[in-house]
Amino acid sequence: MTSSPTVPAFTLTRPRDAPLDPPPLYTELRAKQPISRVSLWEGQLSPWLVTRWEDARAVLGSPAFSSDPTRPGAPTFKKDTVQNPRGFFASHDDPVHAAMRRTLTREFMVKRITELRPAIARLTDELLTDLTELSGPADFVEHFALPLPSLVICELLGVPYEDHAFFQEHSRAIVDFNTTAQESMQAFARLAEYLLGLVETKRTRPGNDVITRLAAQVDEGVITDQDAADLSAFLLFAGHETTANMIALSTITLLSHPDQIPHILGGQEQVAGAVEELLRYLSIVHGGLRRTAVEDVTIDGVTIRAGEGVIVPIHVANRDPEFFTAPGDLDLARANARQHLAFGYGIHQCLGQPLARVELQIVLPEIFRRLPELKIAVPMDEIAFKQDTVVYGVVELPVTW
Ligand code: HEM
Repeated sequence: MTSSPTVPAFTLTRPRDAPLDPPPLYTELRAKQPISRVSLWEGQLSPWLVTRWEDARAVLGSPAFSSDPTRPGAPTFKKDTVQNPRGFFASHDDPVHAAMRRTLTREFMVKRITELRPAIARLTDELLTDLTELSGPADFVEHFALPLPSLVICELLGVPYEDHAFFQEHSRAIVDFNTTAQESMQAFARLAEYLLGLVETKRTRPGNDVITRLAAQVDEGVITDQDAADLSAFLLFAGHETTANMIALSTITLLSHPDQIPHILGGQEQVAGAVEELLRYLSIVHGGLRRTAVEDVTIDGVTIRAGEGVIVPIHVANRDPEFFTAPGDLDLARANARQHLAFGYGIHQCLGQPLARVELQIVLPEIFRRLPELKIAVPMDEIAFKQDTVVYGVVELPVTW
């Protein structure tokens, strides 16, 4: 295998031909050279791009790879690199990663998330009622897809929703490719500063929420005040940008496949399967998961040396025809959809996935039950898709109902 870059001027988000399909370049590479070297940041880095489902899983599940973006050779989103605080634990390796993640695992156990179902259903109902009272057309992102997960994460964390303009703006700056790593960490630090105030408040006015329980872990000496604030900031931004984009894109996808809408209105099990297929089909974390080899490792006959970077474009791996039959088709009844990598795989697999799943399982059927005449109010080519962000989505979605 040659080590000279196959793709000379690679960028982390490529233009797409069709808005719901991965960029064709990746698909071509997966067929011709599934583990190829690409040139990033004007040749300063030449990480490996791993595009097959099986190889992607092998990388993400292997202890031979680090998630620390400050390691030499790490294929970073931004040209500059900064050390993220340890509460932003997706960017840390074990044991720091495990210690930080452990402070939150109980919060995302399926049982606890199931208890949130009535609150999510109530918020969904209220927002859809408010939407239908507008004279339309209205922006579905502003009136539904964004406020719903924001309200849910606020309820879970114990953050006042009145402050949503502040934390949504900073969350956007964190995932935007057009900010430097420095700027994006500054946005994160502003969020954390705001949450540090809340950690303090919860000591005198505790609630039944994550921040109150993190404050208790500070008092027990498990973490510091700053950790509690950073962990809360991480959840606040990870918890609503992703789900909001998934709600908006799933709505577009279902409206573009009207024959499948009856499926999303089926029983709980059928809806759960449909949500997995939408997660696979859309795979919104389209910037690619990034790792650096800490030792030499051979994947599918290709040796990746210690210190070399790897990018795993999960939206491409999730369309691998060797694993998913007719992967470009949306098939809400697909038997192996749940084996998608949309939440990642291995020790960094999405902590919030039970919450994201429950939200989507409640919200998507309710949208189509309540708004049977829902339509996108502009032609598809006038919808502004978010290309330059870690998470794919739409800026706004004008709809009528
Ligand atoms: C549909 C919605 C979502 C998608 C597609 C998604 C996707 C992902 C992916 C791909 C990763 C792995 C990153 C990596 O390996 O480098 C991840 C990690 C993470 N996600 Fe999500 N996520 C979603 C919703 C949420 C929600 C609702 C929360 C929290 C409330 C959340 C919290 C996290 C956290 C804390 C991590 C880091 C886990 C670790 O490093 O151990 N996510 N997510």
